[in-house]
Amino acid sequence: MGKTGQTAGQKRILITGATSGIGLALARRHALHATVLAAGRRPAAEAREVLPDGVVYVQADQHEPEQAAAAVLSALDELGWDGLDLAILNAGTGHAVDPAEETPQMLRAVLDVNLFGAIVLSQALRPRLEAGQGRLVLIGSTARKGAAAFASYAAAKAGLHGFGRALAEEWRGRIAVQVIHPGPTDTGMHARAGHDPGPLLRLFARTGTMARLIERAIERGRAVESIGFARFLGRGEGGR
Ligand SMILES: NC(=O)c1ccc[n+]([C@@H]2O[C@H](COP(=O)([O-])OP(=O)(O)OC[C@H]3O[C@@H](n4cnc5c(N)ncnc54)[C@H](OP(=O)(O)O)[C@@H]3O)[C@@H](O)[C@H]2O)c1
Repeated sequence: MGKTGQTAGQKRILITGATSGIGLALARRHALHATVLAAGRRPAAEAREVLPDGVVYVQADQHEPEQAAAAVLSALDELGWDGLDLAILNAGTGHAVDPAEETPQMLRAVLDVNLFGAIVLSQALRPRLEAGQGRLVLIGSTARKGAAAFASYAAAKAGLHGFGRALAEEWRGRIAVQVIHPGPTDTGMHARAGHDPGPLLRLFARTGTMARLIERAIERGRAVESIGFARFLGRGEGGR
């Protein structure tokens, strides 16, 4: 181990939104075989309570996208990571609300965290991903196609989809880019968003299952992949 906590030959992986739900499950899985830098909104002392030992943490609140990207870059500098093998931009938030009642502040928060924050960070990471011949994974949502009560969230995730597809073309041959769209998953996001899925909850993917399916999708390397109900219930492929 060096000052980076990295064992020679281990992959260097950044995961945002790694303190809860799908991101935390991904961090736990990757920490078994790679060196992980986890990013999240909460203070480091709180993050340490949930993250596995050995995972490095940086607080990077994407409500302030430029500052968040700068914080991640400083953490990478501190680790001495001038190259990156994999970046999973997973941080996300939403709120269940009638679109007519969504204030500009609420809109801005959803667009900043889910879309603007991911775009700014992707740009900032480009040189290190290129140096590491790495892969950028953007976590979208099947809700990007439009879901009642989640208008701004759908807009943000649809924007991320377009951004990811454009980047995949732009960076072809230098950096692999994927947009992966999970379907409904039983994380705490729904409660935090003020959304009660009712009896549908029992159809939601378990968090660990979704993390495993995302890991497999990363291995397959398709530019766009959706992991809808059919996929995690084991009934075939999700649509694109
Ligand atoms: N759950 C679903 O049904 C579902 C379905 C499709 C797609 N997704 C997507 O999957 C991803 C993970 O969602 P999840 O369900 O695992 O949600 P979650 O349990 O609520 O976790 C969200 C993560 O994002 C972080 N985050 C939230 N606001 C942030 C901010 N302002 N700055 C930086 N980080 C912030 C959280 O940090 P803190 O813990 O510090 O707050 C947390 O680590 C999101 O992109 C989400 O849109 C989820």
